[in-house]
Amino acid sequence: MILVVGGCGYIGSHLVKELIKETEVIVLDNLSTGHRWAVDDEAIFIKGDLGERKDLENIFSKYQIDAVMHFAASSLVGESVVNPSKYYQNNVVSTLTLLDVMMKYNVKKFIFSSTAAVYGLPEESLLTEKSNTKPINPYGKSKLMIEKILEDYSNAYDLNYITLRYFNAAGAHKSSLIGEDHNPETHLIPLILNHLLGKIDKISVFGNDYNTEDGTCIRDYIHVTDLARAHILALNALLNGKKKVETYNLGNGKGYSVNEVIKTCEVITGNKAVVEYVNRRPGDPAYLVASSEKINFDLDWKANYNLKEIIESAWSWHKKR
Ligand code: UFG
Repeated sequence: MILVVGGCGYIGSHLVKELIKETEVIVLDNLSTGHRWAVDDEAIFIKGDLGERKDLENIFSKYQIDAVMHFAASSLVGESVVNPSKYYQNNVVSTLTLLDVMMKYNVKKFIFSSTAAVYGLPEESLLTEKSNTKPINPYGKSKLMIEKILEDYSNAYDLNYITLRYFNAAGAHKSSLIGEDHNPETHLIPLILNHLLGKIDKISVFGNDYNTEDGTCIRDYIHVTDLARAHILALNALLNGKKKVETYNLGNGKGYSVNEVIKTCEVITGNKAVVEYVNRRPGDPAYLVASSEKINFDLDWKANYNLKEIIESAWSWHKKR
């Protein structure tokens, strides 16, 4: 039985949709940002908080958990700059509580959701897992802190874990039953699509004076179902004892500028966007693109969806919502 913490969130719910086909799943979520409807009834759902030791003790004492997948986190770069306390509390302190309860109940397999934000201002055009980690915002720092804590727990308590560093998650499930649904929405692709649906009157681009070809930021967009698949491969590697401790990047290996993303959305929807160029957003690096060669080599994972397919799936979801 696998415990998915934060399984009602955007990425967690896409993972649960795939994992439920293979094994029994318990979802723990406090529903602060996730949605109950995003999780299938076949999964056992428990409303609770990973920072509450008693909520966790109730689960670990009742169920035989083989591994934990941890998606619950605050994850907005801009918010983390103005409210770091929230980020260290939710992402570091609460995760420590989870890890300590896991150790108490002898659950020693863990998949951790990390982020490209651990790299800070990249020094290479393609980031590998060996690239320097110098996060420039509290969100990235909070995730890197847990990465370091995991190393120590592995040495001291024999924890087996895989850390997955996501680049820009986007897109929606092929069923269009679940997709990206944040409130408030801050991510680029859903904002553009909401604008093209007439829900917001323009799209603001944060900076066109970066040192990139068209002056706007470049990101590596990765389909949420590709992320889900990577989690299942990682989980199986841990369960089969093939991997003990590993960190993998998850991206497409190809960067697109904000302008290029807007253009692709216009082509797919057939609508023209109203674009306004505004100041840079604090905490944004100019360029973030992944090398995912390591997970390709070790676990035979590679991204199946390109940018066009990612946006097409997001568009089907947004139109239906
Ligand atoms: N952007 C705009 N206008 C908007 C929203 C976004 O121009 O209204 C730009 C951003 O400046 C950025 C790009 O679009 O250049 C993508 O922004 P998102 O907010 O969609 O995503 P981020 O790159 O900020 O965030 C992602 C992940 C984080 C991760 C971060 C690493 O969601 O978890 O990458 O920098 F930490």
